[in-house]
Amino acid sequence: MMSTHKLVRTATALRPRIQFLLSGKSRVFDTRHYCAICSNIAKSAKTVSNEATQPRAPVINKISQPETELKKQTKMSVDRVILPTNVKPIKYHLTLEPDLDNFTFRGEERVELQVNADSNTITLNANELEIQSAQVTQGEKKLSGEITYDKENEYAIFTFPEPVTKGQTAILELHFTGLLNDKMSGFYRSKYQLNGEDRYMATTQFEATDARKAFPCWDEPAIKSIFEVSLIAPKDRTALSNMDVTSETLTSNDKKLVKFSPSPIMSTYLLAFIIGDFDYVEQKASNDVLIRVYVPKGKKEQGTFGLDVAVKVLPLLEEYFGQKYPLTKLDLAAIPDFAAGAMENWGLITYRETALLIDPIQSSSHSKQWVALVVAHEISHQWFGNLVTMEWWDDLWLNEGFATWVEYFAVDQLYPEWNIFEQFVHDDFGRAQSLDALKSSHPIQVPIRIAAEVDEIFDAISYSKGCAVIRMLVEHLGVDSFRKGLLHYLNQHKYSNASTNDLWNALSESNGNDLDVSTMMSTWTLQTGYPVLRLQHDSTTNQITITQMRYLDQGIEESDSSMWHIPIKYITDSGDGQPLVMTDRSITLQLNHDFKWFKLNPGQSGFYRVLYPDHFYDQLCDAIRSKSIGAIDRLGIQEDVFNLAKAGLISMKQVLNVLSAYTLEDNYTVLNSVSANCSQLYNLIKSDHDLLILFERFCNRLFVNQFELLGWKPRPDESHLTSMMRSLVISNLSKYNHKETIQHGLEIYPKNGEMELLDEVCVPDLRSSLYSINIKNSDEAYHQVLNRYGSIDLNEEKIRCLKSLGSTRNVTLLEKTLEMCGSVKSQDAFYVLSGVVDNPLGSALGWQYLKSNYEEIKNRYDGGWLFNRMIKVATQSLTTNQDANDVEEFFADKTTPSIKRTVAQCLETVRLNAKWYENSKADLKQWLESNQ
Ligand code: BES
Ligand code: ZN
Repeated sequence: MMSTHKLVRTATALRPRIQFLLSGKSRVFDTRHYCAICSNIAKSAKTVSNEATQPRAPVINKISQPETELKKQTKMSVDRVILPTNVKPIKYHLTLEPDLDNFTFRGEERVELQVNADSNTITLNANELEIQSAQVTQGEKKLSGEITYDKENEYAIFTFPEPVTKGQTAILELHFTGLLNDKMSGFYRSKYQLNGEDRYMATTQFEATDARKAFPCWDEPAIKSIFEVSLIAPKDRTALSNMDVTSETLTSNDKKLVKFSPSPIMSTYLLAFIIGDFDYVEQKASNDVLIRVYVPKGKKEQGTFGLDVAVKVLPLLEEYFGQKYPLTKLDLAAIPDFAAGAMENWGLITYRETALLIDPIQSSSHSKQWVALVVAHEISHQWFGNLVTMEWWDDLWLNEGFATWVEYFAVDQLYPEWNIFEQFVHDDFGRAQSLDALKSSHPIQVPIRIAAEVDEIFDAISYSKGCAVIRMLVEHLGVDSFRKGLLHYLNQHKYSNASTNDLWNALSESNGNDLDVSTMMSTWTLQTGYPVLRLQHDSTTNQITITQMRYLDQGIEESDSSMWHIPIKYITDSGDGQPLVMTDRSITLQLNHDFKWFKLNPGQSGFYRVLYPDHFYDQLCDAIRSKSIGAIDRLGIQEDVFNLAKAGLISMKQVLNVLSAYTLEDNYTVLNSVSANCSQLYNLIKSDHDLLILFERFCNRLFVNQFELLGWKPRPDESHLTSMMRSLVISNLSKYNHKETIQHGLEIYPKNGEMELLDEVCVPDLRSSLYSINIKNSDEAYHQVLNRYGSIDLNEEKIRCLKSLGSTRNVTLLEKTLEMCGSVKSQDAFYVLSGVVDNPLGSALGWQYLKSNYEEIKNRYDGGWLFNRMIKVATQSLTTNQDANDVEEFFADKTTPSIKRTVAQCLETVRLNAKWYENSKADLKQWLESNQ
């Protein structure tokens, strides 16, 4: 993905990572709840002596078990719709033959079954398949089955005239056909160009529950089996699957039959097949595994960066996890049409082009970073997910939260100068706290009953909050104890399945059971939300009392009894405090030293927000200005203040006071977080022209210092983060109409639309800003960028163009841009929409577009998660109660189960925006007027 640095993350994340290309998170300000916490302070305060010393080993207070609500939630997860267990597949022999002209396929499958109970029926998953015959053989017995379907549950049921009996292995043989769909799920077709002609490849995306669209199977993560795959393909195409090719022979119809070696025992969702035209670059990793990156024909140079990352990450993780990567090859393939960002199929990882391909000339610094993260993420799944798989989708976070943590861990090892964990705190941590501040959020371990509910769970809670609580645990346990537990867990459950509790137990067991990991962590994984810690300081006794309450953007609710076991650390100008775990509503720390400033949660490792007494902020602002406090902490203070204002716990004036302390900020990630928060305010006030002018001036002051240092031209050999910083400040300054930036952007733009000169004019990092500046100012530039979109083939650049089109001030062109949502690749339509709704003139138009084209959009995405994404983007910039009513009314009769949670989150966000703006506009105006 490209140029995300100029954009901000959103609140109600769906797919977390593509997601952060979109902008406009916004919330509420409500003062009524201010005293809710105070009134609790006196009730259960407990005093802990906590001198400012060097950190010591952490202690867990073993207290009461997690609340009854937690137990209730665990129980709910039992209620699943799963397949009967009378038979279990041991090995599939599967042959598939796609027809790339007619977009159909036919398949044959022979499954060795273990029979657990006598029965006349065999039920498995099938969706959108036609099964022509089902035969079972058991010893001498050969039975033909009658085939029926249960469409709602996506079952095929074979009924045999006699029972298949327990004990003896049975062989099930099936013949079936299906459609190579264009919905990017199951076995699907993807379009590309070869020598100027349109061509199609056949490829797969099975997670979560679409293997059943390619072949009848037991499509549940815990039903692991061996797969021996064969593909019948045109002779001139590349045929790939998870494993190595064992033979290639000609068929009677002049195609090739490619056979692959049997897979390890694995879940269906990890299987993959591709038939298409590719070039590849390859290298043997130090652990002897052959790694190949498959790229479009003629684009080998775009695969080398990803290859380089993969070659380093695979052995690194093999060593870290203490388990050999069990296959002899690992392929990474770029697919032209791809719904998610990437998919971890064992041995054959598939990617969106923008998540794998890096063009040596046209790609931005941000894209490089993104590719490194995605490559590392999917490789980490080869252990976390593929070798050990979650028992059921309830524990999806075990796959995704972990892979996210490992992805950062690996990239940090490869590129320490990127300070990637710092960026984590802005990106994933922040995204998780935004979504989890909504009432309509959900717990990390979430009950999933049926397939349709799974898609929505690939969100910022599973990924980002999952990763954040792991990071909190790593800090708490220490890296070595954590790794010890991890190795134990992988060893115990390899080639099998596990649940969240298995992980906690492994972590406890491998550390001598001294630590009750489960009790602490359950408070984070079974409860929705997270706490805000409110501090009170008694200066006469030098005691600090900390009280926890659930944080909600809509304000704290006194009646909410949620409590967390919170690892607490603090830092002052004279050193760190001793860590402890807070298990009560309130605790009191006794400090033995005076301090100039005090900050809870150093390094933002705890998943909570902090509300300080007013005068602490003045002290912290001094520390921010003098940089005597570290970058992650500067980031955290600003992020908390900003969000606490939404909840009415801090005034907007205080927010602006604190933000002003960042005018000399020189850390990319800190400024990126400031930028994201300013964007939210900008979205709120977008229709108040006078206020907007004042606000633009304020924002310009935050970014202009770095701009003066960095200018438009990169220096030779400058650091990655410097390039990212330049891109960030220029995109902000152009957004906030900084005269000099705009002028320069207009001046350097190629005259007469000679876009081939762009490479000389500015680096790819600044391209989006250059386009937006010019499109805002001239319709001609709009058409030039539109033409460039059509003529260039690097998808990264295409998306830059698409998003920039939304910045036009010409409403007719904005409408024309929206129409493109229906003509660009389905995978990219949300970029078009997000470009438009980011423009103050476009937010209402974007929503209107979704309403008017709802059925078409729904069909196009077949209800998949990109559909949710479109809904989210279309509503993300809405800010009035009237908008909220409209959203509510519109969705009132839309019953699609897979969008229920998304709609609730969108609606909550719009209402919060409206309330926040109402409550803060007077403060904003006053402060901005008196601080010009
Ligand atoms: N397992 C997911 C892919 C996936 C996502 C399947 C949604 C089904 C539904 C994969 O490992 C993944 O997490 N991909 C991310 C990229 C990653 C770097 C966060 C994605 O697709 O955004
Ligand atoms: Zn993943």
